[in-house]
Amino acid sequence: MMAPAMRVLVVGGTEFISLALVRALIREGHAVTVLNRGRRNDRLPPGIDVLVCDRKDHAQLRSALDGARFDGIYDITYAPTTGEDVAALADALLPSVPHVLFVSTGRVYDHALPIPYSEATPRGYYWGEYARHKIAGEDALLERHHTRGLPVTIVRPTHVLGPLNTRHNEAFFFDRIIRGRPVLVPGDGGWLRQFGHVDDLADALASMLGDSRAFGQAYNLTGEECVTQVGFVELIAEVLERRVEFRHFDPALLKRFDKPGLVFGQNLVYDCHAVYTTAKARAELGIRPRYTLASALRQTWDWYRKESLDQRPVDFTFEDELLALLPR
Ligand SMILES: NC(=O)c1ccc[n+]([C@@H]2O[C@H](COP(=O)([O-])OP(=O)(O)OC[C@H]3O[C@@H](n4cnc5c(N)ncnc54)[C@H](OP(=O)(O)O)[C@@H]3O)[C@@H](O)[C@H]2O)c1
Repeated sequence: MMAPAMRVLVVGGTEFISLALVRALIREGHAVTVLNRGRRNDRLPPGIDVLVCDRKDHAQLRSALDGARFDGIYDITYAPTTGEDVAALADALLPSVPHVLFVSTGRVYDHALPIPYSEATPRGYYWGEYARHKIAGEDALLERHHTRGLPVTIVRPTHVLGPLNTRHNEAFFFDRIIRGRPVLVPGDGGWLRQFGHVDDLADALASMLGDSRAFGQAYNLTGEECVTQVGFVELIAEVLERRVEFRHFDPALLKRFDKPGLVFGQNLVYDCHAVYTTAKARAELGIRPRYTLASALRQTWDWYRKESLDQRPVDFTFEDELLALLPR
């Protein structure tokens, strides 16, 4: 049964996760308003109200939201968004108390601890400023939940893939494998990674709206499989029905370059495992992804070809320079 239509504010709405979320909310019949700086509103489906505003300008934010009433707010945009920015958004709508859903990250967990990371894993600043801002955002909302009863839900995704991905990850490997280029692998490429499809995340976020079981709670949301860095690329090659040649290199070689380019996706190189359990979301809310890692990659590959991205020019100069340093 469909939930009754609600008035929903999405901060962002025009790039990757937030655009998929807008589409999921529309499918559910909700009335959606987006708030962003107005760079790509041509991407929005019809029927969306738009507030043009920089969320980091709190006076502008208060004035844009003055008198507005929403049943739910998705605080999703990382601008980079501090705890003060998150608090300013939640407070701008007082005295009404809509359900605030905050898209945080799995990177709030201390990744020096053993895997898998659950919602009970201690948070920490392993991931520097990004983790610090996200933890501050979570805490600003949880404090308002505990002291003032604000309905709040924290969602912690990890690597997200799918059409329009702003992180240059799966398409990075499509670009190389389809052209018969080797894939450069930092070290052994054995660190574990976990990916979720953007539409599974968007559907899960939409389903949580107004769900009182999720008030005051945090949930990991991602796919149910983990894979090594090399295993991820092997699976991509299988989906593309192509062979892939791996060329391993010592990451210390990158120090020889003033401005090293990307060598293994945008943010997949780091030296630790990143594995998360989604048991809490499954057990408490019945949320399960519909994509496996292979089917998520296949869907994204279909989109990539439909958009003719296999024809786009790609600059391999940096990789060629790095390859020239490696023994054959
Ligand atoms: N992608 C991943 O793998 C991943 C993993 C874990 C967590 N996350 C989290 O997921 C969230 C969404 O990330 P995303 O990359 O998919 O981006 P997104 O939210 O889909 O796109 C950014 C949106 O925010 C708007 N925006 C940016 N700066 C703004 C500002 N100062 N004021 C108002 N609006 C602003 C942009 O529009 P304008 O430019 O027009 O303002 C755009 O609509 C982030 O919080 C990120 O930390 C992502």
